[in-house]
Amino acid sequence: MQVVVEPCEVLLGEVDIPGDKSISHRSVMIAALAKAPTRISGFLSGLDALASLKAIQKIGIQVDELSATELLVHGQGSDYFKQLLSQQSLEFDFHNAGTGLRLFSGLLSCATCPITLTGDESLRRRPMKRITQPLRQMGVDIQGANLSNSNNSVEELAPLYINFNKTPKLRIKLKPIDYVLPQASAQVKSCLLLAGLLIEGETIITEPVQTRDHTERMLKQFGIKIKQHHRKIVMQGSAKELNIALKHNHYDVVKDFSSAAFFIVAALIAKESNISIKKVGLNPTRTGLLTVLLQMGADIKIMNQHSMHDEPVGDILVTSKNKLKGIHISHDMLALMIDEFPVFLLAALKASEPTVIEGIEELAYKESHRVETMVKALNQLGAKFEVNYAENKLIVYPYGWSNLSTVSKKNSIVLDGAKDHRVAMSLFIASLFGVGELKISAIENIDTSFPNFFDEAKKIGFCFKIITNQGGAECQ
Ligand code: S3P
Repeated sequence: MQVVVEPCEVLLGEVDIPGDKSISHRSVMIAALAKAPTRISGFLSGLDALASLKAIQKIGIQVDELSATELLVHGQGSDYFKQLLSQQSLEFDFHNAGTGLRLFSGLLSCATCPITLTGDESLRRRPMKRITQPLRQMGVDIQGANLSNSNNSVEELAPLYINFNKTPKLRIKLKPIDYVLPQASAQVKSCLLLAGLLIEGETIITEPVQTRDHTERMLKQFGIKIKQHHRKIVMQGSAKELNIALKHNHYDVVKDFSSAAFFIVAALIAKESNISIKKVGLNPTRTGLLTVLLQMGADIKIMNQHSMHDEPVGDILVTSKNKLKGIHISHDMLALMIDEFPVFLLAALKASEPTVIEGIEELAYKESHRVETMVKALNQLGAKFEVNYAENKLIVYPYGWSNLSTVSKKNSIVLDGAKDHRVAMSLFIASLFGVGELKISAIENIDTSFPNFFDEAKKIGFCFKIITNQGGAECQ
């Protein structure tokens, strides 16, 4: 699928953002562990979160799909997960969803039958040793396909196989883990917390830098004892049935800040704009982009701040800004805006000084290698970068410093969306630079996190045409 987008100058109106992807994954998995039914509203009906929904249904959790975004999950309690699946072998396909696959591996750590967890080509390229290694340390029989790296270390990739070495039904007693995460990863942290819940003793996880804490917040809402001291998280697991349930049995998922980010940056770099986005999640472990843009001088206001299930929420109002300052982004800050890196580059290109971004290594392990895919595409639009992998940093030279006029405007420029939802949406927003008509290829995965992206873009003034693989052009 491709999209051909015309440059536009004015963006006005209200954008409706879907439910938070990270929270949607967690909501169905943790609701499945609860002893009582949980009604979930605002669920992301994008392909990634739906993969987690299908996975819990596949292990026999009944879910009434009340509407596309409203679910009633009939949790079976934690014992169900401890005695799980002793009879059949099961295969789960998480397609593009790294969060789904990694968190679900933790939830299945006590299962006793052979299990295969896999995904699409992109997910099968992403590193999995970060979860298999600590899970093995806990006693889980899990193995991925081995891959030797150029630096002679062995990586493990999906498909992941659980219980393929031992006779089914022969249960190994798992031991809790005290683990220092080698990388900043909320997915690894959450995988180990979900596994730790099902066994007796204390799970202790120390993070190198703070990452999103939705799992910790949600587990507390369900009644789990979990504490945080600086970078250390301590949670009490249980060999007995966990008697967890949500107060009022209802969880309302906040709207996804990471999806809002595309329109926040769009409104900032457009010639003229006034955009509002309501009920967006503003958890400080996710809003590094907001902090950074405000420091750069952006005109962003937050209204109606409140909290939903311990997740901060608010309305965001953004107006275009001609002058943004360059900034220095530390590794710690990048972890708080890790998914916003692709679209943030556009704001950095609009600044009046260069921007330095530290700690770029983790960006190689996303749905695409996000430094390479973004730098390559934006180079085609005349942007200049200095990538320094040895020093783990990237310098963005603003447009004022490079020569936009060298970019040919005769034909539409073809940019590779790399089958990466966030790269594809960021390149769509880059049309606001007015370099010319942009054709963005491989955009189909936008549906994984933001199924109504094009409807919302059209509503506020973008002008584009989607070309499907069947060749039909749908005019917008
Ligand atoms: C996520 C954590 C991050 C993020 C991903 C969602 C999560 O990944 O990039 O989109 O929901 O826990 P890592 O944990 O690999 O950094």
